[in-house]
Amino acid sequence: MSKKTLRGAIIGAGYFAHNHLNAWAVAEGAEIIAICDRDEDRAGVACSKFDISGNYQDAARMFAELDLDFIDVCTTMETHRELVELAAANGVPVKVQKPIAPNWDDAKALVEACKAADVPLMVHENFRFQMPHQTVAKWLRDGLIGTPTWGRIYFRTWYDIYQNQPYLAEVDRLALLDLGVHVFDLARVYFGEVESLYCQTQTVKSFVTGEDQATAMVRHTSGAVSVVECTYGSCQLPDTIPQTLVHLEGTEGSIKLLQDYKVIVAKADGTREEHDLTPAMRPWAAEPWHCEQDAVVHTIQHFIDGLNNGGTFDTSGEDNLKTFALVMSAYDSAATGQPVNPAKYA
Ligand SMILES: NC(=O)c1ccc[n+]([C@@H]2O[C@H](COP(=O)([O-])OP(=O)(O)OC[C@H]3O[C@@H](n4cnc5c(N)ncnc54)[C@H](O)[C@@H]3O)[C@@H](O)[C@H]2O)c1
Repeated sequence: MSKKTLRGAIIGAGYFAHNHLNAWAVAEGAEIIAICDRDEDRAGVACSKFDISGNYQDAARMFAELDLDFIDVCTTMETHRELVELAAANGVPVKVQKPIAPNWDDAKALVEACKAADVPLMVHENFRFQMPHQTVAKWLRDGLIGTPTWGRIYFRTWYDIYQNQPYLAEVDRLALLDLGVHVFDLARVYFGEVESLYCQTQTVKSFVTGEDQATAMVRHTSGAVSVVECTYGSCQLPDTIPQTLVHLEGTEGSIKLLQDYKVIVAKADGTREEHDLTPAMRPWAAEPWHCEQDAVVHTIQHFIDGLNNGGTFDTSGEDNLKTFALVMSAYDSAATGQPVNPAKYA
């Protein structure tokens, strides 16, 4: 018997929602039947572009009128808690964009609300679903360079992110919350959980309110050490946005994921391999965003597959709290000038 096609809705029809809607259109086993945005015009544009009939401005009304199998929250972080708790109260499984919330209390509360209601929750953390990172992480797990010892995971750009997301110039907390969630998540994927981290933040661009650059040194429980960098204030040509580059070392070699998805593997036996991990270019995608756009499809497919398999996800609410604890600890460290053990956010 074929599986039922899940029917869901998306809340938020702004900048990034169009990547979600393109991905939902090709993901297997689900369809979007309604879009909710406070801004009727934005919802209307998305509804006509993706041929979706339900156009709502009020999420509570949408829950009351539709029988939904899932909800995809693609609003900015200030509204995540209220919308996820609304989904939980209605018993509807939910995927919510990163950052999960603006602060620890809201993040923890929304995860607990879903747990208490027995409602599956996945965080749309898409960087670990990027094909190059999936591939390199598997090589690392398979022991290609022995036991991992050290790494540098870095996202550095000068790109004007404020064009499409003007709200980012106004927030008090920027680089770590907006970008650090992704890069710390990759640090966990590559090296596992963290016992201590030290972070320094800076504001490079004068018109930005929050920090636009953060540099952290991380000690993992495995003993590995990683350097995590996220910045919107790094002027280099060519600019590598939106690529997260990595340099991983182990007891038997190293792996470098470099610009344009070129990978170099060096082994202690003196051998060297080059690989090209250029991701798929989806029909709606555009360079340089194609890796991220392809990852949105994989993220959404993971959500659908997880819903069909008992509601378990690699980036569950509980898992993402571990990443979020690193971001909160990085802010604490930057404020105090001291290393922080993220276990304080248990
Ligand atoms: N994973 C990624 O790679 C990635 C990239 C960019 C943005 N994002 C995330 O996506 C989310 C959305 O970002 P964006 O840039 O698209 O924001 P945006 O401001 O462009 O769009 C958000 C939309 O949500 C609507 N909205 C807000 N609260 C609502 C509510 N209660 N009910 C109905 N509609 C509501 C707004 O009217 C707006 O149209 C953010 O959390 C952002 O961090 C993720």
